[in-house]
Amino acid sequence: MQKLIFANWKSQKLQNQVEPWFTSVGAPPAGVQLVVMPSTTLLSASAAHLSTGVSLGAQNVSQFPIGAYTGEVAAAQLADLGVTHCLVGHSERRQYFGETNDTVVKKSEQLQLSMVTPVVCVDEPYIESQYAALQAAGIHTFVLAYEPVAAIGTGKNVSLEQVTKIREMAKKLGDTPFVYGGSVSVENVAEYVLICDGVLIGSASLDGQEFSRVLTIAAGEEPSFA
Ligand code: PGA
Repeated sequence: MQKLIFANWKSQKLQNQVEPWFTSVGAPPAGVQLVVMPSTTLLSASAAHLSTGVSLGAQNVSQFPIGAYTGEVAAAQLADLGVTHCLVGHSERRQYFGETNDTVVKKSEQLQLSMVTPVVCVDEPYIESQYAALQAAGIHTFVLAYEPVAAIGTGKNVSLEQVTKIREMAKKLGDTPFVYGGSVSVENVAEYVLICDGVLIGSASLDGQEFSRVLTIAAGEEPSFA
């Protein structure tokens, strides 16, 4: 089965960095499905570089439909650009922008209406409540991203035992695809893809050459100690 790899660029990169990144990443190996998640301003430029095995993701979406909501980008507008996936509930959005389980549901509803798959980010304490809120709203198609806050951008990736424990917990809630995010790198990606459906990568996705190695390791085409 192909592994889902999300590249979350966060609020990084300018227009002139898009093409060089895609060039150095090159075509992803057959064993992975890559979803590139640039800033909203870079979605169009990135869309021009999509190919087999590479699709486009967004980092945020409005909780409202198309309409008079100044400054917001609606799910239908993302879909119009070819976006297939969108992050919701990332810990940086929960921390700095007041995103809650409730807004995650509203955003996921909008995404579902536009056939964009929500990638719902959760840390352990609210995984069950977030899952229940989504199910109560009739949202069953989403990717669950287990993202321990302390592991994000810190180099402190959590143990395989911990990820396995959360994976087992998530399995009891439903059979949605499960990915891990938090300091995934060339050193550890091989292990996470063995126990998850994929990974969500921030820092290690920014440099095209480094990320290309992450992809070949995730696809099992290069030993992780090389
Ligand atoms: P990181 O970010 O890979 O830099 O830890 C992951 C994320 O924010 O999802």
